[in-house]
Amino acid sequence: MPIISIDQKTCNKCGICALECPRRIIVLPDGSFPQVVAELEATCNACGHCVAVCPRGSLSHRDSPLKSSPKMEKGLVVNPEQVEQFLKGRRSARVFKDRPVSREIITRLIEDARYAPTGHNLQEVEWLVIDDKKELARIEELGIEWLEWVIKNLPKVAADSNLEEKLERQKLKHDAFLRGAPVLIVAHANKSSLASLAGIDSANALSYLDLAANSLGLSTCWAGYVYIMANTFPPVKEALALPEDHAAYGCMMLGYNKFKYHRIPCRKEPKIIWR
Ligand SMILES: Cc1cc2nc3c(=O)[nH]c(=O)nc-3n(C[C@H](O)[C@H](O)[C@H](O)COP(=O)(O)O)c2cc1C
Repeated sequence: MPIISIDQKTCNKCGICALECPRRIIVLPDGSFPQVVAELEATCNACGHCVAVCPRGSLSHRDSPLKSSPKMEKGLVVNPEQVEQFLKGRRSARVFKDRPVSREIITRLIEDARYAPTGHNLQEVEWLVIDDKKELARIEELGIEWLEWVIKNLPKVAADSNLEEKLERQKLKHDAFLRGAPVLIVAHANKSSLASLAGIDSANALSYLDLAANSLGLSTCWAGYVYIMANTFPPVKEALALPEDHAAYGCMMLGYNKFKYHRIPCRKEPKIIWR
């Protein structure tokens, strides 16, 4: 079975599928219909561009069948002003409502996050979602142990990051690590799989999830300390219990923000080298 099939009744041999294919495995020999070069078939990374780009819906791919590849709706295109305000208006939430987020919503966010770009289209990012209050409280508690460990063993790091003060606040139930968010999402992947790409892929996916969450009236905040603990502090590693051969590549709090933002704050001017 070839990996692509062509509806010969509708295909007009325009060749866009061949030009678009990032692996250049589709050809149109002598004006015939598009086909995959047999020896190159195994190099297809199932990106689905051939299906997405065909203006006539004439091409189907084994891994992206036409019937499972919905049409883009023109009416849903957002305008640049909307995009600009949406991106610049997103904030990291630090004060969450005591309100759970339904697993249905979280699943929807992860569905969207799957569409973030991934190196080689590997789509290797997996997800751990913790919405159990006790488990989240346990991570906050372990934060105290971690701070004590860093202060004792890495005094310079602790001093540079003001961790003594953070520890004092954490002991007063400051929730410095998860900010009272009802959900922690961990993007994880196999440690051995092109590790540098897994890190980028996870950050991309979490950023997509972040934006999708904001579009649904939720808020997020990256959990940088939890990420550090997840990969370096055995008690937190144990609490997260990721698959043995996996590492956490990004952690994000999710919930409903107690507050709304009414203005867009300033950011540094970008430093750009033009050539
Ligand atoms: C990798 C990363 C880790 C972060 N870790 C934390 C964290 O542990 N706790 C926290 O409150 N904010 C954390 N943040 C949020 C940043 O502080 C925040 O993005 C920055 O202050 C800018 O604010 P804004 O996101 O509202 O624009 C993190 C952000 C990133 C990108």
